[in-house]
Amino acid sequence: DLPAPAPADLLAWYDAHRRHLPWRAAPGTKADPYHVWLSEIMLQQTTVATVGPYFQRFLARWPTVADLAAVELDAVLKEWAGLGYYARARNLHACAKAVVDRHGGRFPADEAALLDLPGIGAYTAAAIAAIAFDRPATAMDGNVERVMARIHAVTDPLPGSKPTLKALAAALVPPKRPGDYTQALFDLGATLCGPRAPRCVLCPWMASCRGRRDGLAELLPIKAEK
Ligand code: ADE
Repeated sequence: DLPAPAPADLLAWYDAHRRHLPWRAAPGTKADPYHVWLSEIMLQQTTVATVGPYFQRFLARWPTVADLAAVELDAVLKEWAGLGYYARARNLHACAKAVVDRHGGRFPADEAALLDLPGIGAYTAAAIAAIAFDRPATAMDGNVERVMARIHAVTDPLPGSKPTLKALAAALVPPKRPGDYTQALFDLGATLCGPRAPRCVLCPWMASCRGRRDGLAELLPIKAEK
């Protein structure tokens, strides 16, 4: 059988190949929870390339969550124009106010408290807990589902396989550098382990990938017909 995928191998790959994205802290420094939250909300249904300039403009105009909470919703909606899904912008503003009112302007570190905030669901709560606070949380998005389905050769179709994929992902999250590990998985899924033509020979987890061994990598994850 194949060796288990080692988080340390993925982290070493990330250290060498991480994408330089505007919301990422410099290596070895702490990410600002406000930046992490803002980027994660913007990245829902919007690409990394589109989000970049919006993220920069929001931060230039509202450097802290308290600044964002203090303005009229209308100003936020105007700055959001072009990102789509305006419910996200309304929730963004409501969340900024809730962070100020309930938490004194500092994002809480634990997933349950994050989940209680407007516009923050399971994915976002886990992403913020991991990336901003280095908690071993499991942020499941489409990239992570694809990587897990391939590594473990999960042939059950999505969406039914979601709980299985999440359990497999959770079992791998390392106690050390869980934030970098989480973003490394996003990067792996967005680059080498993309939906089509995975570049397995470059993958830090190639030797552990059951999907590749079985000749199934590109076919996974299988999706149930709608
Ligand atoms: N997609 C969602 N969150 C991301 C992040 N932190 N880095 C890269 N892609 C992402």
